[in-house]
Amino acid sequence: MDMNIFIQNIPKAELHLHIEGTLEPGTLFRMAERNGIRLKYNSVEALRRAYRFDNLQSFLDIYYEGAGVLQKEIDFYELTWEYLLKAKAQNVRHVEIFFDPQTHTERGIAFETVINGIYDALSDGSRNLDISFCLIMCFLRHLPESDAFETLSQALDFKDKITAVGLDSSESGNPPSKFKRVFEKARKEGFLSVAHAGEEGPPEYIWEALQDLNVRRIDHGVRALEDPSLINELRHRQIPLTVCPLSNIKLCVFKTMQEHNFKKLLDQGLCLTVNSDDPAYFGGYVAENYLALQNAFQFTRNDIAQLAINSFSAAFISEDKKDIFIEQIKKMVE
Ligand code: ADE
Ligand code: ZN
Repeated sequence: MDMNIFIQNIPKAELHLHIEGTLEPGTLFRMAERNGIRLKYNSVEALRRAYRFDNLQSFLDIYYEGAGVLQKEIDFYELTWEYLLKAKAQNVRHVEIFFDPQTHTERGIAFETVINGIYDALSDGSRNLDISFCLIMCFLRHLPESDAFETLSQALDFKDKITAVGLDSSESGNPPSKFKRVFEKARKEGFLSVAHAGEEGPPEYIWEALQDLNVRRIDHGVRALEDPSLINELRHRQIPLTVCPLSNIKLCVFKTMQEHNFKKLLDQGLCLTVNSDDPAYFGGYVAENYLALQNAFQFTRNDIAQLAINSFSAAFISEDKKDIFIEQIKKMVE
């Protein structure tokens, strides 16, 4: 079996995926038209040409602008359903999806419009596509703590639909410690926690995510390599990093895939997972991320299988469910 097909076929979980980042240009145009929104770009091609980023912020500016076409519950439903069809084609069997309610509530869209559209699509995906899921609500870290508290209080009405809270948006200058109290409240309410840290920000932000936010996983975390004592901590506790290789190249965290530190992090004994972050903007879904790493580092089938195993062992699912998928993966490399 050719490596490309092996990567497509191996069961995978995706743990770092912003649903707003799956908005494909064609869908964006279609939704803009039906919602009567004028875009700055006059064609899908012109929009695609704008997808050249120098850093995280230059991407976020375009990503928040794009999310403006999402207005009605059906828009959130269709966005999520389109992602699930792509995930299904790559044999993604479990997804943990980030959503950013503040991106929408700030524009006057009701919290329930956002969550109901996303959740109904995920429920249909679970029934009809056999993809299990959980939802992770992210706070936008460039906004004040008080806004995050307000968002958390809105989420309490939907507690049964949300598994964990996360932290995303502009990292530099917005350390995890800014949200220590919000995460304390969220954990008291029963939510698990994760946070983006060490994507552009320093290793200290990863320490803060661990110590102040009590996170179960670090999203990105690639800058951990600069701090040997942090690497020891991550290895010792086997805290998973949800790495997004194509994202890191597009946002200039590394110049080329060969220069990505993925292999170095693996060689330190860390639990790494492969994810697509914002696939509509970064040129590939999860299988393309595995393939890009395989090309750059000559990964074997066993290496790929181990990464797929990690994606399930790092997931917020039962041990029994993990074992079922891990067995299936092991059989593929026997
Ligand atoms: N929001 C969407 N994608 C993100 C990323 N890679 N980092 C921070 N915030 C984000
Ligand atoms: Zn992300």
